[in-house]
Amino acid sequence: APVKVQKICCIGAGYVGGPTCAVIALNCPDIQVTIVDLNQARIDAWNSKDFKLPIYEPGLEDVVRKARGRNLFFSTDVDKAINEADLIFVSVNTPTKKSGVGAGFAADLNYVELATRRIASVATSSKIVVEKSTVPCRTAESMRTILEANSKPNCHFDILSNPEFLAEGTAINDLLKPDRVLIGSLQTPEGIDACTALADVYANWVPKERILTVGLWSSELSKLAANAMLAQRISSINALSAICEATGANIDEVANAIGFDSRIGPKFLKASVGFGGSCFQKDILNLVYLSESLHLPEVAAYWRQVVDMNEYQKRRFAKTVVDTLFKTITGKRIAVLGFAFKADTGDTRESAAITLIKDFVAEKALVQIYDPKVEHEQIWLDLAEAIPGTPIEAIKKQVTICASPVEAASKAEAVVIATEWKEFKEIKWEDIYATMDKPAFVFDGRLLLDAEKLRKIGFHVTTIGRGAA
Ligand code: UDX
Ligand code: UDX
Ligand code: ADP
Repeated sequence: APVKVQKICCIGAGYVGGPTCAVIALNCPDIQVTIVDLNQARIDAWNSKDFKLPIYEPGLEDVVRKARGRNLFFSTDVDKAINEADLIFVSVNTPTKKSGVGAGFAADLNYVELATRRIASVATSSKIVVEKSTVPCRTAESMRTILEANSKPNCHFDILSNPEFLAEGTAINDLLKPDRVLIGSLQTPEGIDACTALADVYANWVPKERILTVGLWSSELSKLAANAMLAQRISSINALSAICEATGANIDEVANAIGFDSRIGPKFLKASVGFGGSCFQKDILNLVYLSESLHLPEVAAYWRQVVDMNEYQKRRFAKTVVDTLFKTITGKRIAVLGFAFKADTGDTRESAAITLIKDFVAEKALVQIYDPKVEHEQIWLDLAEAIPGTPIEAIKKQVTICASPVEAASKAEAVVIATEWKEFKEIKWEDIYATMDKPAFVFDGRLLLDAEKLRKIGFHVTTIGRGAA
């Protein structure tokens, strides 16, 4: 029979593990939830008295305030939490491999493996182990092999796959009202019991018909497929945006017309300077790598093109900026508004802004960055990684981080919108205009601004997916 879960441990207190398990704790007051991490600073931040949490996510602080100390705990004592729990989420990071076989494509499963081995070596009772990190297909199988080979007598491990579909910036809402919860298990009696035990946890707040139970491999593949299809929509609309710019069609009008078809639907059709985030590129490259290893090169090439189109879109936008500024930006000041990969997050992983700034720096421009949420230190780390071989002091000669949009626009020739922060709509553009060199250019990479209004002020405006006006 399925166990009734009383104690949950979550290994990894990051963007996925933190919000997910905080919401579980909020909705399941009878379950004790302990989130552990090796990173002491991160755990200290989760525990901080003034709720300076390590990640910014609207609504998260509220959830943590309600549950922390009641049935939600953060700790670096990984072994103790593993031992006490009946169910363990593995939510560690799975970056793309930087070296070795599959470098640049395959996921680095080292963190997953280390966490799995830790569970095997310290557990003294049976556990349900839940794979939560996005991982390539068949990772659950490897985890199962490691656990079985290292377990003690009377210790039984069941493996589940329970991919997380939350998007950053809307994580809390996504978790409170998920479109679906997906749980994959072996179709054995034990596997199905473990699946039921986890489904019962979610049933505390998720309607039963939204909890989907499937086979282990379907579950793992669904996560990669969902992200690949979402990213594909953006690359499709971005490919069309290039046609719009060349023909005078308007990408917003086209997207609207397409989206009215109920078979297509209106969401995720916003043309942009390119998608970012920790998931899309990584998961597609995982899918490409999987296809290659299954000897399906045509399938690999098909998905690869979604990422190639995204790179093209970023480069194309940077080139438009240079071309419009009379084919040179050497020594010119360019304000970049937004550094996060999307609005309402401080996360910068794979942000399009990084690629743009890298290109501007290569063209010897002076870049002035403003973002309302991203930590300055993070910006320097990202730029140092993106521009290897150049000492950070040299980068700092060309790049400054500013405290406001007006400061970023000071004496600039152009303002580039890289992130769709709502506050950029509310900027007093007259003030921006006053401080800029003339002619003053605005490049809207997010279809965010009212171009006509800006033109009345005097700006030259270029918008993704619109022909030159
Ligand atoms: C299509 C468009 O749907 C329609 O809006 C447009 O005006 C004309 O082209 P049609 O070709 O008549 O219409 O049929 P449709 O239902 O779109 O199917 C096209 C093909 O896709 C068929 O061979 C169908 O079997 C196939 N298909 C459709 C699938 O293989 N899977 C699906 O999920 C849907
Ligand atoms: C994504 C998936 O949405 C989520 O289900 C999965 O669990 C993790 O990956 P996330 O990366 O947090 O979530 O954000 P998302 O809202 O999907 O945006 C990804 C990128 O696409 C952002 O850079 C965003 O600006 C861009 N985007 C999104 C567009 O350019 N146009 C759109 O229409 C939508
Ligand atoms: P994600 O976006 O997938 O949540 P993050 O990088 O935000 O990824 O979070 C993953 C967290 O997992 C990091 O804080 C990292 O320190 C933690 N972690 C990695 N390996 C282990 C491990 N073996 N035990 C505990 N925590 C780990």
